[in-house]
Amino acid sequence: MKAVLVTGSTGGIGTATVGLLRSRGFTVYAGARGPAGFGPEVRVLPLDVADPESVAAAAKRVAGEVDGLWAVVNNAGVIVQGPLELVPADEWRRQLEVNTIGPASVVREFLPLLRAGGGRIVNVSAATGRVAMPLMGALSASKAGLEALSNALRLELAPWRIPVVVIEPGTTETEIFHRAGAAADAALQRADRQQVELYRAHLEAYAKAMSRFKPGPVDKVAEVIVRAVEARRPKRRYAVAEARTLGAILPKLPAGLRDRVLSSAVGLNGITP
Ligand SMILES: NC(=O)c1ccc[n+]([C@@H]2O[C@H](COP(=O)([O-])OP(=O)(O)OC[C@H]3O[C@@H](n4cnc5c(N)ncnc54)[C@H](OP(=O)(O)O)[C@@H]3O)[C@@H](O)[C@H]2O)c1
Repeated sequence: MKAVLVTGSTGGIGTATVGLLRSRGFTVYAGARGPAGFGPEVRVLPLDVADPESVAAAAKRVAGEVDGLWAVVNNAGVIVQGPLELVPADEWRRQLEVNTIGPASVVREFLPLLRAGGGRIVNVSAATGRVAMPLMGALSASKAGLEALSNALRLELAPWRIPVVVIEPGTTETEIFHRAGAAADAALQRADRQQVELYRAHLEAYAKAMSRFKPGPVDKVAEVIVRAVEARRPKRRYAVAEARTLGAILPKLPAGLRDRVLSSAVGLNGITP
């Protein structure tokens, strides 16, 4: 049976992907930082992608149980949101540690198993990896970094024929936005009152714009990830239907027009100091 690792399996897209992979007959390692509610048919693997020792220990355990891996799905992710002046440095670091450095550590430690198993790397990015969003600078930087890493790795690992795939989900119904909102509120509580007031209009416009987004179901994203895992010759990039509009059209617009469209989409145009 082919073995696949999914990181961040205790959340929306990760949990759905683990379930679908299992139903397709894969041996699934479900990377989890905390308790995971899977049955005995799933191999829960303690894994904090931001902790190099945890990543190394996870790779050691898997190497003791299987001869090789068919895929590593770098799914674990967080959103750190807010204007730069209101995002503390430790939150910026957390963003990059989980979304960018984490996948790099996971790939580094699991590459021997991927080589042995004729495996592939599937990195879950976001439209923000191609189009930076205002008030989401940290997230955009982290996903752009993941995209750059994916593009470099694809060439680096070509001699071993290890495909590197990027998945671009659309806005999806998971806990990620609530968690991001709670972390941002906590950061605002710690921030300087006057600085917060400077951005009051930004924050209100952004909240209003976000409330208009209609998130899609996790199953659609899991299906796309599993398609990338199963494809005989996987494509470089798989965009989930809704992501195609934002992710595919915006990068092609002239920069000035793109800035205006984005600013207006997030409700920022017209704001004056
Ligand atoms: N939802 C969307 O609209 C959307 C859109 C585009 C891209 N994505 C991407 O899809 C991926 C999955 O997100 P989701 O929406 O399913 O979010 P989610 O429901 O919040 O799940 C995120 C998962 O990542 C895990 N995680 C966070 N920090 C971790 C760490 N240091 N080590 C290991 N696991 C960690 C979480 O575990 P804990 O429970 O332990 O925190 C959780 O299992 C992310 O990469 C995200 O950027 C999501």
